[in-house]
Amino acid sequence: MAEQAQPPSTLSVQSYDESAWQRTHRCGVLRIGDVGAQVTLAGWVQSYRDHGNLVFIDLRDHTGITQVVFDASDDKAMHDLADTLRSEDVFAVSGRVAARGPGLENPKLPTGQIEVRAQKLTLLNKCQVSLPFLPDASADAVGEELRMKYRYLDLRRPKMQRNLRVRAAAVRAIRDFYASEGFLEVETPFLTKSTPEGARDFIVPSRLQHGSFYALPQSPQLFKQILMIAGCDAYFQIVKCFRDEDLRANRQPEFTQLDVEIAFPSIDRVLSTTEGAVKAIWKSVLDIDVPTPIERLTYDEVMDRYGSDAPDIRFGLELRNVSDIASASEFNAFKSVVAAGGVVKSLCLPGGSDLTRKQLDELTASVQGAGGKGLGWFRVRGGKLDSPIAKFFGETLQTQLIERLAANEGDLIFAVGDASKSVVNKCLDFLRRHLARTRGLIPEGVFKFCWVVDFPSFEYDAEEKRWVACHHPFTSPRDQDIEKLAGDPGLVKAKAYDLVCNGQELAGGSIRIHRQDVQNRVFELLGFTAEDAERRFGFLLGALRAGAPPHGGIAMGIDRLIMILTGSESIRDVIAFPKTQSAVCPLTDAPSQVDERQLRELGIDLRD
Ligand code: AMO
Repeated sequence: MAEQAQPPSTLSVQSYDESAWQRTHRCGVLRIGDVGAQVTLAGWVQSYRDHGNLVFIDLRDHTGITQVVFDASDDKAMHDLADTLRSEDVFAVSGRVAARGPGLENPKLPTGQIEVRAQKLTLLNKCQVSLPFLPDASADAVGEELRMKYRYLDLRRPKMQRNLRVRAAAVRAIRDFYASEGFLEVETPFLTKSTPEGARDFIVPSRLQHGSFYALPQSPQLFKQILMIAGCDAYFQIVKCFRDEDLRANRQPEFTQLDVEIAFPSIDRVLSTTEGAVKAIWKSVLDIDVPTPIERLTYDEVMDRYGSDAPDIRFGLELRNVSDIASASEFNAFKSVVAAGGVVKSLCLPGGSDLTRKQLDELTASVQGAGGKGLGWFRVRGGKLDSPIAKFFGETLQTQLIERLAANEGDLIFAVGDASKSVVNKCLDFLRRHLARTRGLIPEGVFKFCWVVDFPSFEYDAEEKRWVACHHPFTSPRDQDIEKLAGDPGLVKAKAYDLVCNGQELAGGSIRIHRQDVQNRVFELLGFTAEDAERRFGFLLGALRAGAPPHGGIAMGIDRLIMILTGSESIRDVIAFPKTQSAVCPLTDAPSQVDERQLRELGIDLRD
């Protein structure tokens, strides 16, 4: 706890004379050119220093800090009142801007060449509590839950203020862009029916119809399709979405999407409009020109090269398939996985031979944590491989491996094999990102975008023994793949696309199925009976039968966008009032119990 001395209890807040504290400037704006100006500032006490006859207070608002000097020889009563000010008290001050004396400037502050010599002090409010932390950089070391509980303190910090303001600027740029492109902003309901994104729903009980529930939308997906059928042509909305799913650093149970849908679209139009929005956002928020068109990579290619459908392409460390070399070796662990239809893939870490045995053991343990059975590694020394398992690879195989990875002297080659291709990809994706981060291979301040296109339409859920939609059941297969629906659904590619930035999925969307016959075949494949489909999505299916234009769209995660723009590690730092990993709001204590009376009205009995 950052305790602070309490002020004398007799001191009361001064009377409410608004004219005494109407601000002429904000606290971060005065410069040497303002010397001599008569100003009124207001804000919070950032810090205070008592130098006998002089009291120095750093006065803070969202724009920065100004040093204010209270001189007893100017006004003893004012000086004595200033002497009682403590952290986070709120006051206003009128005075004259003066240059700081030689050697007294503070080069770390934009206002560091000046100070305000106080003439009138108005104490607007005492901070009456002992603060759990002060709203400065030291709060980074405070537990996140405490920061969320005292969010009003946390948000006073310059970093958090910046995040809020970047968010507002990005949202403004988005609105301006889509409005200027002729998109119509339409709101859609929150109290609705289940949507098809596939996470668990948050449900809301109905008071008027006991036993019935609304679902909060996982996205406005079905409504935006209906808006296209309703002739809206091009729609956008900045909207809350709700998904009851396991939370991660870039997921929240309620998050915000930029949601977009276009009638009579082409994939090119959806992608190029989104690129236009990205350009507008980066230009207006960061004054950066994002080069377009953004590179398009197929799903198959990114999985081969990066092991992830959200590849971080700011650095190399690309993966290479070395199954042929591994199966020709005498190393049984690899030979057997290839024989079982699995795969062995490698990546080369330039200069990585300096990794110690202990570090390599730690990496192996992390890869095992990511689901792998182990991690093979080879130092490249004297044109050969050096490692406990190198002896299982003859000279020719060693040369082939070095050539395949374009490895040089002093590099380190890693290899992971598994019967499951996705396990290999997951392990190497983890390793690739981990090595890039820990070896400083990620360039600062760089934004690298790519589109990932041609996603598979369906994947087989081995546990549930059924096909599931990779995006959602309204995503159109590519025209050339429609006939494969009956044969091998695993080969069907979708008209689906994701926008990836710095290794994060920023946006995702698809062209939708607008033909009833294709939709029926997809439902059949996914195991929806006609009744199931009617029950869940009947209102959309009805609309699709009523003259649906071809349509498609995309949704961008606004919270992720702001994380990327501000370089934030946690999604919670870019949301004013976020939830914890366990979906709790420490500020309001939600979720919380409700009165018995409310439950009775809703017709709800709680089970243990
Ligand atoms: P999708 O489910 O891919 O598509 O979501 C689109 C984007 O929303 C963001 N996002 C999230 N952000 C924070 N927390 C979450 N829990 C979360 N889940 C998703 C991501 C993601 O790229 N209706 C479709 C879009 C469409 O087809 O047009 C949809 O919602 O940035």
